Amino acid sequence: MNESNPVAGKLRQCFTCLRQKTDFVPKLALVLGSGLGDYAEQMKTEAEVDYHEIDGFPVSTVTGHKGRFLFGRIGDVPIVCMQGRVHYYEGYDMSDVVLPIRLMRLAGAQALILTNAAGGIREDLCPGDLMLIKDQISSFVPSPLTGPNLDELGERFPDMSQIYDKELIRRMELTAASLDLSLKQGVYVQMRGPQYESPAEIAMCRTLGADAVGMSTACEAVAAKHMGMKVAGISLITNLAAGISKEPLSHKEVRERADATAPKFRRLVSGAIVNIASGLL
Ligand code: HPA
Repeated sequence: MNESNPVAGKLRQCFTCLRQKTDFVPKLALVLGSGLGDYAEQMKTEAEVDYHEIDGFPVSTVTGHKGRFLFGRIGDVPIVCMQGRVHYYEGYDMSDVVLPIRLMRLAGAQALILTNAAGGIREDLCPGDLMLIKDQISSFVPSPLTGPNLDELGERFPDMSQIYDKELIRRMELTAASLDLSLKQGVYVQMRGPQYESPAEIAMCRTLGADAVGMSTACEAVAAKHMGMKVAGISLITNLAAGISKEPLSHKEVRERADATAPKFRRLVSGAIVNIASGLL
């Protein structure tokens, strides 16, 4: 990798540091969103690396977001799980926000499942629903690919016409059906945050074609797709987006709803990981 590029240099440094802690090679990477962190209890953990232990790694500041990589297995599938992600609104450069995604790819992960908490914009998306992301709008945040291209990771002008992998979507749907779980589909829009949106902004998002809104994920999906990863995304709808409900939005409400929906979410993700890994990875 081109070490004269600071983004590449930092990534290489973080990778070297990670490899000093563990030689575990995951096939699949999983990012746990707000309130979903306790999913990690489902896995047989073989190694744990706290973000603080990786020199140069951006460390999350949001309360309730634990910051560590867990390496282990769901069924027989070797996975790496990010317990706590880095958000753009915390003040990091976009290249730092997606550094963990790039690191998991370098560590071996070929597929990525992104999860998040999101506000429902489309009228049939209610608190407690799970929504498979079929496409996204990332235009409100800077591209993680800004600056010199890291040719070792991917091409300068990567295609984004199918960010979310069709086969992963199909396997997610099959898993949900076999577990008798309702799984909706929609377009996710990433807003900058950290403030929740205004009703006028939500009206704009709806006009643009967005079904659910959050403050993460889309930039990570762009970075992963740039590197050729197969990407899937699930939004847990924690609230009605601003202006749809009469109630003001609160982080507490978002967390409580995420916690209440966690069992359903855990079943879907575990089933999907085993399903995705069989024959695909
Ligand atoms: N807006 C943005 N981010 C969110 C929301 C929301 O309504 N709910 C959960 N994360």
